[in-house]
Amino acid sequence: MSLHQYIRDIQDFPKEGIIFKDITPLLSSPEGTNECLALLINSLKGKKIDKVVGVESRGFFFATLLAHELNVGFVPVRKPKKLPFTTISASYKLEYGTDTLEIHTDAIKKGDRVLIHDDVLASGGTAQAVCELVDKLGGEIVQCNFLMELSYLNGRAKLGNHEIFAAMTYG
Ligand code: PRP
Ligand code: MG
Repeated sequence: MSLHQYIRDIQDFPKEGIIFKDITPLLSSPEGTNECLALLINSLKGKKIDKVVGVESRGFFFATLLAHELNVGFVPVRKPKKLPFTTISASYKLEYGTDTLEIHTDAIKKGDRVLIHDDVLASGGTAQAVCELVDKLGGEIVQCNFLMELSYLNGRAKLGNHEIFAAMTYG
């Protein structure tokens, strides 16, 4: 059965006119979670990964599962002032204003082969900032993967030539 059955549409959240894609039914289903994880892992066949980078907050759920499944380390990218050690940061545009993400400077070694994971690829601003952080530390981005891609927002355009995989697509 399709993974889409585990995604719930919430009308007018977080504000009027927006239909929010709620992943909590997926997270609460062991079958759905397994199926989704298997799809993501299958897309990495034959690719060597050294680190999984997950994006706060909703990227953390599956990023740790992916890291565990691949038997590699997990690296958090977090919102400002959350990480305790030395960080570098990257900013990205929101509809109104900007936002910033941070990563520990020792989280990725030069040449590490990195999988970037987040729950949603929408405008692509978040993923683009994460790519910038990984690039700055000398990591090699093997793939950016997502639970879902909102393809009508064309976030892919911001990610250059990086390989992109989404377990679900909403067009
Ligand atoms: C949401 C979502 C992605 C990002 C996608 O995160 O979880 O991380 O937006 O949007 P974009 O492609 O347009 O950048 P949000 O910043 O709302 O925070 P959260 O994960 O902590 O809920
Ligand atoms: Mg997020």
